[in-house]
Amino acid sequence: MTSAAAVAEVPGRGYWVRGVVQDVAPPGVDDLAPGYLDPALLPVDLLADASRRALAEYGPAALSYGENQGALRLRALLAERAAGEPSPSGPEHMMLTAGTSQGLHLIATTLARPGDVVLLDEVSYDLAQRLFTDCGLLLRRVASDESGTSVPALDEAARAVRAEGRRVAFLYATPTFHNPTGRTFSRTRREELLSVAARHGVLVVEDDAYAELMLDPGDLVPSMAGLAGHEGVLRLRTFSKTLAPGLRLGWLTGEPGLVGRLAAHGLVQSGGALNHTMSMVVARLLEDGDYDRHLRVLRAGLRERRAALLKGLASVGTDGWTVTPSHGGFFLWLECAVGLPEEQLLAKAFESRMRVAEGSRFGHAGRTAVRLSYSFNPPGLLERAGRRLAAHLHDPALHQDGKGSC
Ligand SMILES: Cc1ncc(COP(=O)(O)O)c(C=O)c1O
Repeated sequence: MTSAAAVAEVPGRGYWVRGVVQDVAPPGVDDLAPGYLDPALLPVDLLADASRRALAEYGPAALSYGENQGALRLRALLAERAAGEPSPSGPEHMMLTAGTSQGLHLIATTLARPGDVVLLDEVSYDLAQRLFTDCGLLLRRVASDESGTSVPALDEAARAVRAEGRRVAFLYATPTFHNPTGRTFSRTRREELLSVAARHGVLVVEDDAYAELMLDPGDLVPSMAGLAGHEGVLRLRTFSKTLAPGLRLGWLTGEPGLVGRLAAHGLVQSGGALNHTMSMVVARLLEDGDYDRHLRVLRAGLRERRAALLKGLASVGTDGWTVTPSHGGFFLWLECAVGLPEEQLLAKAFESRMRVAEGSRFGHAGRTAVRLSYSFNPPGLLERAGRRLAAHLHDPALHQDGKGSC
């Protein structure tokens, strides 16, 4: 598989196979599709040590059903981290989740009804869309530009849904290091979107999976939740992108009343906190400063990987191909300005034994596009794969066969 080189350096590599992990590319295929971390970046030793220390300190309390909103210890530590944000969130604003997917499911089933409509960007995280439709919700795509979701388009979509006699479930937004485009919505755009959402009484569900993965100097734009003082916004965070997806641990923040409604769900009442033992392990990591040290190493690793892929792709940008600049997260979004059919591009990638995430998987961007992930492979492989892909994009045969050219 793709990251054979990376996996070879990792203890227990023999288990990185189908049947144990979710998705493994065929042998010899360079896999630029997955939105998750290179096995070499997963902190195996750190978690082994934190698990031992958490069990030693918290004892049986770490193995019990946890407090419904999640252990106060971890919520208090997360609140401390949020102290510098425009609207600090206290433990009462927080609920621990089994990751963002589970949080989205809880919101989609508790605060919406089948037949309600989710408003979302014309290209959005594909699996959130799948999750919403599996809950019986309908999707309504809203146009966007480089600053984020279009404000008039959101206004129009909210009106249209009401005119059809339907209810808007919520606006689903990924304003920071968006999946798949890598874009970050400007502060002004966030404020304008919040004001339209408030005018229509529409809840904003802010999926902030990549918020801690700023890779460039400068300040992060405040979250929509922070700008709104949490009013009318539920913000979802996850440790999947910063520690490991197998932990199934995240948290959401919102107005205490709304968070209380989510925590009152039968699933939580019956089972307690959604991933209690792991939350105590992660509490130890935060408490000891290990999480911040790990984040610094992780960001450096991602920075190096992004630079390697960009170096490989250096010749792209001529011939009508564009790479959307991204300041963090996991992805580059490669778009073709005119006419090349997606199937043709994918066939070329396949021929060159490379897997990429096709743009149409995320919605209708209006242009042929692919998402390239730099999180999952070591830098050397990313640079080589980028170079090979760039060569294919410039291959005259590709343009002759296609209906248009780039
Ligand atoms: C925007 C976004 N939200 C949520 C998730 C999934 O998060 P979790 O693993 O916490 O369920 C992903 C993972 O790809 C993502 O990109």
